[in-house]
Amino acid sequence: MEKSGMLTISDNTRTVLERRYLKKDTEGNLEETPEELFMRVATCIAEAEGAYEDGLEPSAVAEAFYRVMTEFKFLPNSPTLMNAGNDLGQLAACFVLPVEDSLDGIFDAVKNAALIHKSGGGTGFSFSRLRAKNCRVGSTGGVASGPVSFMKIFNTATEQVKQGGTRRGANMAILRVDHPDILEFIGCKEDNEALNNFNISVGVTDAFMQAVRQGGDYDLIDPRNGEPRGSLNARTVYETLVHQAWFNGDPGIVFLDRINRDNPTPEIGEIESTNPCGEQPLLPMEACNLGSVNLSRCVVTEGGTTRVDYEALKETLWLAVRFLDDTIEMSRYPLSAIDEMVKGNRKIGLGVMGFADLLFMMGIPYNTEEAVALAEKVMGFVQAEAHEASRHLAVSRGPFPNIDKSVFKGDENRAYRNATCTTIAPTGTLSIIAGCSSGIEPVFALSFVRRVMDGDELVEVNPLFEATARARGFYSDELMARIAKVGTIAHMEEIPEDVRAVFVTAHDVSPEWHIRMQAAFQNHTDNAVSKTVNLPRQATEDEVRDIYDMAFDLCCKGVTIYRDGSKENQVLSVSDAK
Ligand code: CDP
Repeated sequence: MEKSGMLTISDNTRTVLERRYLKKDTEGNLEETPEELFMRVATCIAEAEGAYEDGLEPSAVAEAFYRVMTEFKFLPNSPTLMNAGNDLGQLAACFVLPVEDSLDGIFDAVKNAALIHKSGGGTGFSFSRLRAKNCRVGSTGGVASGPVSFMKIFNTATEQVKQGGTRRGANMAILRVDHPDILEFIGCKEDNEALNNFNISVGVTDAFMQAVRQGGDYDLIDPRNGEPRGSLNARTVYETLVHQAWFNGDPGIVFLDRINRDNPTPEIGEIESTNPCGEQPLLPMEACNLGSVNLSRCVVTEGGTTRVDYEALKETLWLAVRFLDDTIEMSRYPLSAIDEMVKGNRKIGLGVMGFADLLFMMGIPYNTEEAVALAEKVMGFVQAEAHEASRHLAVSRGPFPNIDKSVFKGDENRAYRNATCTTIAPTGTLSIIAGCSSGIEPVFALSFVRRVMDGDELVEVNPLFEATARARGFYSDELMARIAKVGTIAHMEEIPEDVRAVFVTAHDVSPEWHIRMQAAFQNHTDNAVSKTVNLPRQATEDEVRDIYDMAFDLCCKGVTIYRDGSKENQVLSVSDAK
């Protein structure tokens, strides 16, 4: 493949790539350039093409993959960038592992998680199958220590294994709301350090939400035999959950029945957990590789007006689906059981990033009907094209092997190559590499200090805002510094009103708009949507409850809230908060 000249990349992109992605020798010297990284990835992934009869030359496909990545129109998840064509060869970001109710089962899961973390993947677990604290242990006559106690072992193991030498392991723990230890679980992160490598979420059922609304009690269930084992007042548990989330952001909440309504292969299993950041529900032993299209690079400007270039977007989406399907073939999974499950369902998670940038470019405020309508339109298009591209691949490559055990059985119009096609990832690092706003989030601030990767700091002024400030004649270093301190321009009268309306930040967006936006994307996403509802420090518990209620009513699959200042280690922070 021809190397098409030097890439123009920003300092931030270069810093991130050099620190974590470019191949290094044993002494830490760089062994590749950014161009070589993208070529390594493109060549490795396109190798999969050789096994199919789609009639495309691997080298031509590699060239197309290289182009779409180096134009920063599409990027695969971090493990693909780090490991494709390298020794590890594990390319997926998301895994869910089963935790069986036995010492063997628990320690198998600890070991498998360690192997996955080493390869750069994140792991989700449902601890719901473990017997409750103080239940009898048959073989010893002693008593069980319960899910929360065992989670600490997973946490310690994670602490000791730095992911692939590059990133710290990330875990999700989910416990069903009807597990007898639910109250202990809800409070288990109050001491922030005890489970610092876990995100935790309560797995809530529709029956529980109904009990909350009626003010009644609900049964706790013994996971060993499915029998009731006491009951709790639903409203009390809900209030406890809301209080804890308000207090320090954990736990989140996932709506298990909603998630399972979208489970494409219920015959193969029930979905009990998601990956660490919540956007990818998976069956036990399933993995998924993600990829994101940068919407801010799929636009055209005519006569001073910017709009989505749907033709260009379509081309990128079709290539991305092909890329992600090829990735499944090229990835080396750490366990044969995972390999089997992944190749049976062939789930991929294509999503978008740069949505807030797109809104800036189109002059649409994030917190408006117009923005929600655009979200529906763009994601509806992404979903339809991803499905169509997957169906097209199935014609030559065959549908996913488990299709006859899926909800698509016998449906010619939905004979897909992949059991799921779309996911909205956080794109925490990908968006820095691509130089765009992350996922579907509003920008955190127009000028801010970005703390990344174990304490490093990067100072940034949003380039779209800077360009507008210069064009409209109100740019000054003094003003930019002030904005970095305050974090919002909402009340700065020296800035024209229409600019203030468009350039909103996460904290200018009320919780209702955050949830409405999440719901709009969820309407057109097979898997789930990564979204944080940011709240000011003074937000109340009532507001948190309203957010949860609204997310349930609008059919979101989960919610994560974060009240400013409620956790010490913020990934993003306006300079004032430091
Ligand atoms: O931008 P990048 O591809 O690095 O990751 P992301 O979109 O922020 O996160 C996607 C998924 O990668 C998460 O939900 C986790 O499953 C996994 N991840 C991880 O395992 N460890 C991290 N430090 C970050 C992400």
